[in-house]
Amino acid sequence: MNWRVPLFEPNFGAEELAAVQRPLRDGWITMGEVTLRLEAEFAKRCGVKHAMAVNNCTAALHLAVLAAGIRPGDEVICPTLTFVATANAVRYVGATPVFCESVGPTNLNIGPRQVAERITPRTRGVMTVHYAGFPVDMVGMQDLARKHNLVIIEDCAHALFSTLQGRCCGTWGAAGAFSFFGNKNMTCGEGGMVTTDDDDVADRVRNMRSHGMTTLTLDRYKGRAFSYDVIAHGYNYRMDEMRSALALVQLKRLDSFLHERRRVREWYCERLMGTQVMVPDFDWKAISQPGDSVGFHIMPVLLPEGCNREAVADRLKGQGIQSSVHYRPVHTFSAFSGSVPSAQRPALTEVIAERELTLPMYPTMSNEQVDLVCECLLAAL
Ligand SMILES: Cc1ncc(COP(=O)(O)O)c(C=O)c1O
Repeated sequence: MNWRVPLFEPNFGAEELAAVQRPLRDGWITMGEVTLRLEAEFAKRCGVKHAMAVNNCTAALHLAVLAAGIRPGDEVICPTLTFVATANAVRYVGATPVFCESVGPTNLNIGPRQVAERITPRTRGVMTVHYAGFPVDMVGMQDLARKHNLVIIEDCAHALFSTLQGRCCGTWGAAGAFSFFGNKNMTCGEGGMVTTDDDDVADRVRNMRSHGMTTLTLDRYKGRAFSYDVIAHGYNYRMDEMRSALALVQLKRLDSFLHERRRVREWYCERLMGTQVMVPDFDWKAISQPGDSVGFHIMPVLLPEGCNREAVADRLKGQGIQSSVHYRPVHTFSAFSGSVPSAQRPALTEVIAERELTLPMYPTMSNEQVDLVCECLLAAL
């Protein structure tokens, strides 16, 4: 399909092309010094003590859940309006994802009140997803977590980089997990990062991402070690040097990408103000302080109640405009059937999710393209 306006577009230039070639020329392509550099730069930008690169955000979530001490039989409360990876990571360790409502049509995130309603004696953790880049009310969530002795894990796949009360998403809980998938605010194709201020969590993540081994191939090549012990059940979730090199360049350019994403978001808001199309604001004004910023990732809108969303998406497609849905609530998927007791069905989120349509958003999108999307959308309604 040759879209006039695609849903997203990656942004690569000469610097990215040169960067991915360098490890090939240097002759070291598996996790090594470029990855260490990426981790250091990422930690600095995020304002966190430790950043550990992994091969995707799903792996980052898995390691975060393990390192935070979630065990088989535990319950972890997470949004149902998220990508399935959030819930899968909880299931990987034999724990149960407990699906939580969104706050409401203007705030698609989960909130402390919605989480509190689902706490049981088995609840050990909360997984917050900063949907579209808008931070969850982390101040309220921390208060709740303290009161009930819960660990917080932040799924920051959408939140590269969002700040709340002067703190980056990914620094509020035991660990944060970021994605560098192809459609994310910065990308290296497939990649992820775990962030934490906790030395023990960082040690466990570093160890488990490489089979629980005490030394890396790089350490042995450099003559820093000859052999290794295996001290924990681990995985191969390592990043490679070509991806790290690409991610380093994208990280350097991220602020300029975010600047353009903000422009696109503001232009959409202006064009859609006072129309039948609702643009959720995620209660941003109420929870943020001056200087905070959203790392705008996607552009979700709510269509009028009763609207035939598929027909609208088809009309947009007919005009060469790609759109999408974020998300079908996870508890409605076949693999999760029976996962929610009927008394706890996130019924409000089911209704909201039916109305959600995601419009194109990427840094090189022009204001004229935003105009076109809005005109076609309003005409389709
Ligand atoms: C909210 C959320 N969590 C987790 C992931 C998984 O990320 P990855 O594809 O890097 O594993 C995604 C990916 O789109 C996501 O949107």
